[in-house]
Amino acid sequence: EDSHVEVLPIIDSTNQYLLNNIEKLQTGDSCVAEFQSKARGRRGRQWFAPFGSNLYFSMYWRLDQGIAAAMGLSLVVGIVMADTLREISGQDIKVKWPNDLYLDDQKLAGILVELAGKTGDCAHVVIGVGVNLMMTNPDPNIVNQKWANLGKVDRNLLVAKVAKNLKTKLRDFEQHGLTPFLNDWQRLDNFVNRPVKLLIGDNVIRGVAKGINEQGALLLEQNGETKAFIGGEISLRSD
Ligand code: BTN
Repeated sequence: EDSHVEVLPIIDSTNQYLLNNIEKLQTGDSCVAEFQSKARGRRGRQWFAPFGSNLYFSMYWRLDQGIAAAMGLSLVVGIVMADTLREISGQDIKVKWPNDLYLDDQKLAGILVELAGKTGDCAHVVIGVGVNLMMTNPDPNIVNQKWANLGKVDRNLLVAKVAKNLKTKLRDFEQHGLTPFLNDWQRLDNFVNRPVKLLIGDNVIRGVAKGINEQGALLLEQNGETKAFIGGEISLRSD
């Protein structure tokens, strides 16, 4: 089955563009842009999206399981992106719970899943992915953590593979849930068995990362006990 990918030179945000046109879209329809003037990241943050140097990709997906499945969906997107970027570059790409890709302990890409609306039980979501390829001199006010580039790749080939693999794996996820992906996550997890701290609001929780459960929650081990957390941001710790 064909993938429809619209190529946009300049846009405010590829996610916003699909959100604006949601009625005309079918599951798996996607777009890419060369430049975004108002790219967004998670938690209301900006995303640095300079001209021509990176990948800015969005895909529409109709989630029949409803919004409760959005967490699992976004984790599957991370797995698919890590595997596809590894296939195309040969580099050891990792996932960071819940929604980042890492290369050499530095952020390579971010994933933003947004809800467009609901009809009955089904949720309409837009999946956005930004991957650093050849970024130079990012605005330090926007990019405020260690970051990595994938390097030069054939972006047409990359987009074609991403669109195809996402459609295949998201259908698997719709049929079988997250369970068949838990081994993939374990294999790709940048933090598994490493000491981390989890920031939830102003609270810091220390533990050893143990991957995720069937619901997509982060597993942290503390004093021999493993607990699941559904939100927050993790980072490595040395203390
Ligand atoms: C994050 O790490 O905070 C998520 C970043 C997501 C950025 C991508 S770029 C393509 C798509 N369009 C947007 O406006 N954001 C996402």
